Amino acid sequence: MLEVEELVKSYGSVQAVKGVSFSVRTGDIFTLLGPSGCGKTTTLQCIAGLETPNGGEIRMGDAVVYSARRKLFVPANKRRLGMVFQSYAIWPHMSVFDNVAFPLVHGGYSLPAADVRARVMEALAAVKMDAFADRPAPHLSGGQQQRVALARAVVHQPKLLLLDEPLSNLDAKLRDAMRVELRQMIKALGITTIFVTHDQVEALSMSDSIVLMEAGRIVQMGSPRDIYLAPQSSVTSDFMGRSNLIPARLIDAEAGVVETGFGRLTCKVSKGLDPSGAICVAVRPAAIGLERPADAGASAADLGENRFLGRIREVTFLGDVVEALVEIDGVALRASFSPYEDHAVDEEVVVDFGRGRCVVVNDDKNLSGAA
Ligand SMILES: Nc1ncnc2c1ncn2[C@@H]1O[C@H](COP(=O)(O)OP(=O)(O)OP(=O)(O)O)[C@@H](O)[C@H]1O
Ligand SMILES: [Mg+2]
Repeated sequence: MLEVEELVKSYGSVQAVKGVSFSVRTGDIFTLLGPSGCGKTTTLQCIAGLETPNGGEIRMGDAVVYSARRKLFVPANKRRLGMVFQSYAIWPHMSVFDNVAFPLVHGGYSLPAADVRARVMEALAAVKMDAFADRPAPHLSGGQQQRVALARAVVHQPKLLLLDEPLSNLDAKLRDAMRVELRQMIKALGITTIFVTHDQVEALSMSDSIVLMEAGRIVQMGSPRDIYLAPQSSVTSDFMGRSNLIPARLIDAEAGVVETGFGRLTCKVSKGLDPSGAICVAVRPAAIGLERPADAGASAADLGENRFLGRIREVTFLGDVVEALVEIDGVALRASFSPYEDHAVDEEVVVDFGRGRCVVVNDDKNLSGAA
């Protein structure tokens, strides 16, 4: 549906986007994720036609909408897009109905008034705001404004919906609820969507596909599960929630055997690992098991593969989960366990690294401080 090829965009001497390529399947919610300043909005604006790129090509369906080589640029209003930005830009002097009708009335569609009414009410129904059609726009909550902005973005039946941090103005609780709702509304409408966010939970919960960007480049692309569970670098692992990044030396790249400061680990090997580069082991706190030595069913001399004796240094009870700082041979690691289990500070534990749950990745940012 959408293909972006080698997209480049500079502002003066700042290279905001440095050769980004991806393709988006029809009907997917496709997310550009990354820290502030990594080039998400710039990429989206280039797709929208609100910025002119410096290089590359953008295709929508069969149409080329930008090509540096062919010196081709289709203006924004000819790209059949819907957009919602962080500030919803709901016009305060108009009713909800007039806000949503605006693109149809002023977008050169010349539809009869009855058709406008039907389409506006359909869009409002899709976002469950049809009962609010006659209400003045200022009398709406943040979440309601967000829905009206979405209705206005889809009322002219765009081929592509572009959303730039549409939830970041909402308070935390509403944002949680709107994540699920927004995904359901978009899926019900069936519109291919590019979603921009710097929030990894938002990206994981809403997307069919995620592109993780850093400093104008793509670091990794994949499904939410892939990005979370199979990071290809320490950058991805670190950005996608909390991870232990354990400095290590590669012993056997085929078998995934590494030597760490506390002993040998057998791990999964990330796709595209460069065995000649610096590596580390990425392990989520939830992937680490803690057992009492007495229950572990093994002698301290031989605990078995990926198991080590450690000591709990800190315990933080968070309700849904308990976080612990565990030390093995001077190496500190974050582990988490269920609130229905009980481990105390200073307790000796057998620390179990599930073999399929540790991943050897290239330490591309030297986050782990390995040599
Ligand atoms: N109009 C502009 N003029 C000059 N530099 C710009 C302009 N817009 C963006 N930049 C720069 O380009 C880079 C990428 O910006 P962009 O807005 O795409 O980041 P972003 O990933 O959307 O970040 P955020 O999460 O903060 O919105 C940044 O270094 C930014 O300062
Ligand atoms: Mg932005």
